[in-house]
Amino acid sequence: MKDENFDFEERWREESRKMFDTSEARKAFQNVFDHSTSMALLKLSEQGVIKKLYGTIESGKESVVFLADTEEDERVIVKIYMNRAGSFREMKKYLRGDERFRNVKDDRRTVIQEWCKKEFRNLKKASNVVKCPEPLAFRDNILVMEFVGEEFSPYPKLKDVEIENPQQGYKQVIDNISRLWNEEELVHGDLSEYNMLVDDKGVLWWIDFSQGVHFNHPEAEELLKRDIKNIANFFERQGADTDVEKDYKRVISG
Ligand SMILES: Nc1ncnc2c1ncn2[C@@H]1O[C@H](COP(=O)(O)OP(=O)(O)OP(=O)(O)O)[C@@H](O)[C@H]1O
Ligand SMILES: [Mg+2]
Repeated sequence: MKDENFDFEERWREESRKMFDTSEARKAFQNVFDHSTSMALLKLSEQGVIKKLYGTIESGKESVVFLADTEEDERVIVKIYMNRAGSFREMKKYLRGDERFRNVKDDRRTVIQEWCKKEFRNLKKASNVVKCPEPLAFRDNILVMEFVGEEFSPYPKLKDVEIENPQQGYKQVIDNISRLWNEEELVHGDLSEYNMLVDDKGVLWWIDFSQGVHFNHPEAEELLKRDIKNIANFFERQGADTDVEKDYKRVISG
């Protein structure tokens, strides 16, 4: 064990110098993440999943999002969940109610790893019905996925773009919420104008699927209602007519 750690320190010193674009990016990573996260990152680098890590795009309360390149020089997003996140109890509740994750152990590290795996699996399922980043790999608390953007910039969030036809946009999102629920048995759970990106052709990309749960989860219907409400509020401010109750019933009844 001691040797393995020693070996890790050596490898990390050497590899992390090459892996991070700048020493600031490397310091920023080391200030936030623990030893086991560095180990997971090193393994992903040794597998060629990540070659170069640029700075962070955004830091949320549970995760930090980095831009990176793979060995094939494909640009990707590396989303790293913080092992010390305070909302661990909430995460556990969301996991336990989901039949796919019912038997998860309850130590912090395992819960966060399963949370990361849940986002990976949700993205896979969601990609059958909506545009969303293709999940490429996960390891411990690190998720690697397709980058939705251009060069070094993610596409803008829905909240920051001008909407040409809000009525049509609203209908399209509700139809997709319905397909996600009825065909993939999934609810996004944190859907809003903050978690949708708009590409240069006006196509909506759904992101941030970590809260998503199976529709048998005890709180799934509540989350579905909230998603519809958030979306309705947004499109209504843009001038669309919406009816949350009616649309909720329509989704639930298939
Ligand atoms: N696949 C992606 N392609 C481009 N940009 C992305 C991608 N994933 C995330 N981003 C950018 O990073 C930001 C934060 O990502 P995300 O919404 O997944 O995390 P978060 O809101 O911090 O989530 P959490 O609440 O799970 O910590 C997004 O708003 C977006 O700008
Ligand atoms: Mg988000």
